[in-house]
Amino acid sequence: MCGIVGYVGGNSAAPILIEGLSKLEYRGYDSAGIVVWEENQLKLEKKLGRLSTLQESLQGIELNAKTGIGHTRWATHGRPSDVNAHPHSDCTGRFAVVHNGIIENYMELREWLQEQGHRFVSETDTEVLPHLVEQYYQGDLKEAVYKVIEKLEGSYAMVVISKDEPGRLVAARQDSPLVVGLGEGENFLASDIPALLKHTRNTLIIDDGEIVDLTAENVEISNGTGRPVEKQIFEVTWEESQAEKGGYEHFMLKEIYEQPRALRDTLSGRLSPESDRVVLNELNLDEETVKNINRIYVVACGTAYHAGLVGKSVIESLAKIPVEVDIASEFRYRKPLVGPDNLVMVISQSGETADTLAALREAKRLGAKTVAVTNVVGSSVSREADNVIYTWAGPEIAVASTKAYTTQLLCMYLLGIWLAQEKGALEQQEITDLLKELRELYVKAEVILDNDSTIQEASRQFADKENAFFIGRGLDYVVAEEGSLKLKEISYIHAEAYAAGELKHGTLALIEENVPVIALATQQHLYEKMVSNIKEVNARDASILALAMEGNKGIEKVADHTIYIPATHPMLAPILTVIPLQLLAYHVSVARGCDVDKPRNLAKSVTVE
Ligand code: AGP
Repeated sequence: MCGIVGYVGGNSAAPILIEGLSKLEYRGYDSAGIVVWEENQLKLEKKLGRLSTLQESLQGIELNAKTGIGHTRWATHGRPSDVNAHPHSDCTGRFAVVHNGIIENYMELREWLQEQGHRFVSETDTEVLPHLVEQYYQGDLKEAVYKVIEKLEGSYAMVVISKDEPGRLVAARQDSPLVVGLGEGENFLASDIPALLKHTRNTLIIDDGEIVDLTAENVEISNGTGRPVEKQIFEVTWEESQAEKGGYEHFMLKEIYEQPRALRDTLSGRLSPESDRVVLNELNLDEETVKNINRIYVVACGTAYHAGLVGKSVIESLAKIPVEVDIASEFRYRKPLVGPDNLVMVISQSGETADTLAALREAKRLGAKTVAVTNVVGSSVSREADNVIYTWAGPEIAVASTKAYTTQLLCMYLLGIWLAQEKGALEQQEITDLLKELRELYVKAEVILDNDSTIQEASRQFADKENAFFIGRGLDYVVAEEGSLKLKEISYIHAEAYAAGELKHGTLALIEENVPVIALATQQHLYEKMVSNIKEVNARDASILALAMEGNKGIEKVADHTIYIPATHPMLAPILTVIPLQLLAYHVSVARGCDVDKPRNLAKSVTVE
């Protein structure tokens, strides 16, 4: 997610903007920029790279401006570059805008604006905003912003500055955080509280649909109909380090709770409302190519590999194309029978994992078409693959991957449905039913997160254990693999995932009194068999935590604790089932006093083989 800072007051704006942006660096970004009002014009500077690069470019430029906005960009639409960095301005340089979020309908807005004569210079969705302001400006910046947001679909926290209105900033919020900082003779805007703490702890939290009209002496907030909104001052008591985590104890917990937003963002712009179909404009695979794909290879590491295992089941079921899944470090050494009629998909949150990158290069050497699923625009895999599908999860800072995984799964579903559409492998009604369920996933994820206390309670029994088993069948077995990795990597408990039907072929010998077993039973067609497997471990006095879908009966009789997830299409269940497992691992790790965000021996991106 991007960082935003705005200032109007009696001090020099530029250093305040840069300092504020530096407090948001932890979120990850690829470029930065500021714009200030000086000598009756807007002076704008923006650079690819770190804030220090921007500061170097500002050296020697005398900036006494008292009004300005700044931005650190986490690229979603348009690769990292100087021209794609924010702020963006209109054709005349009279207006400049910074933005955090995704303008879903930016393509149609861009086309319409170009028909009106506007000229675009960047690849971003954001650049439609200053041109819209220019289009609608009739002497009042706030009035213009109101007209602009009527046109927008998607998420935004945006701040606008005008050459014609010195000492004024206008901002709007929809689904992206925006905060006002209240000072003495000065006022601030930011996407995140850490940027404000050096100057003030008195803040106003802006809500969806609200517009902020900010000067040095006055802050006016109004709702979508223009009516003034009274706000309670929120006094920030957090220390800076806690503020970076948005008030959460750890980045991992913050990122677990960001999943509903990440799912919405990753879905945005990829479901066609008119035709009720998946649209993946970023894929340059024509129908003939898709028809000739006779096998798909999915190659990844760790959690991304587990996403690939779900992808196998989903793509084979929906598109009827055989899928093989490989651990990246194994793939290139097993002499894979990959050729021009294969599609090789690499999955990588960071886009920099050495094993995955090497596998991608090997697949290309063997003549396969390639697609990368990654969370980082401009990452190595995104640059080297023939096609890229981005997860728009925002920066993932905790070593343990959570929101990247669930958005990777979402991309598996989108790709599976898209391939099925291209091959005519699904009836429209089947697609419509699946898309309806996909649209509801983020709400159901919120329901699970609201139930965190139950999961925390259930996690207590694990804190003093040294072993744990995750069992499941079908997709539940695949999710059990991810649940097992989460617990292992942040609590250091030896956890193992096992196909439930396989237990009696050896591992059952390890099950004895109080051995923790997490049993996943969300796959309706396998439910009865799972209940039987749970009875097997129950008969050995295991300590059982079961996960099932609402509406399933009887499982609570054979488990010590049962956690229910909201009912959804069994194929989509993994996105929901994994959330309690992420929370379980988190709470056990905290209870054991482990370093949740930076577990021992591990790195966020493994850039060595
Ligand atoms: C996941 O919790 C781990 N941190 C690790 O397995 C990770 O998924 C793996 O290293 C792959 O990273 P990537 O997605 O950035 O390629």
